[in-house]
Amino acid sequence: MLRLDTVTAGYGETQVLHGVSLEVGAGEVVALLGRNGAGKTTTLRSIIGLTPAWAGRITFDGQEIARAKPHALALAGIGYLPEHRGVFPSLSVHENLTLVAGRRPGAWTVARVYDLFPRLAERRQNGGAQLSGGEQQMLAIARALLLNPKLLLLDEPTEGLAPLIVREIYQRLADIKAEGATVLLVEQSVRFALELADRAYVLGRGQVEWQGEAARLAGDAEAQRTWLGV
Ligand SMILES: Nc1ncnc2c1ncn2[C@@H]1O[C@H](COP(=O)(O)OP(=O)(O)O)[C@@H](O)[C@H]1O
Ligand SMILES: [Mg+2]
Repeated sequence: MLRLDTVTAGYGETQVLHGVSLEVGAGEVVALLGRNGAGKTTTLRSIIGLTPAWAGRITFDGQEIARAKPHALALAGIGYLPEHRGVFPSLSVHENLTLVAGRRPGAWTVARVYDLFPRLAERRQNGGAQLSGGEQQMLAIARALLLNPKLLLLDEPTEGLAPLIVREIYQRLADIKAEGATVLLVEQSVRFALELADRAYVLGRGQVEWQGEAARLAGDAEAQRTWLGV
């Protein structure tokens, strides 16, 4: 469904990605791991067109998208959860959801995301700013789902959250996976990410240092030490 072929990208004169190649097949959950500053966020930003690729190819559903704009890619079916949750603090939970609902019709509706996240249903009239960090992250995931993406890019969906909430969010991501979602997941919580993912790539200094089955990396303490420093 998604393929990056020797993608380079950066900010101003500074090159960050030095030829990243990776693939995500339909129905797969693929983890993109690596130390801080490795280029994980930049990779997702290059896919969604926020930090356009300098060179290389990016294809989605067989179409070249390396020069497409973020808005067009969202409508084409790429959902993106940015590193810092994009919820509107002055709008209620319900308004945050209805704002995006219906733009790309599909299986996910406001009612179904309330079923997935009952806490959001309880807090539907609360303002975005009144939510806990975990609830804000649930709201951000719910908003991404409401665009009924064919491919979901998640950038650290549990960053800064308490362990119990991290577990809860991963249970919901497992539910989403069970429905056949295709996900490219950037994470620091290596253990949870590797439990959920089918395959993993590890980035180091803008290049893929390791790739393979998630279960293989989960069982390889040596590789984790070398590439992830855990
Ligand atoms: N807006 C930016 N301007 C300049 N450099 C940036 C910017 N964002 C990230 N970088 C640099 O790019 C490198 C990779 O960052 P990033 O993709 O955010 O890594 P990761 O998500 O793996 O932590 C880092 O060295 C970071 O300092
Ligand atoms: Mg990042």
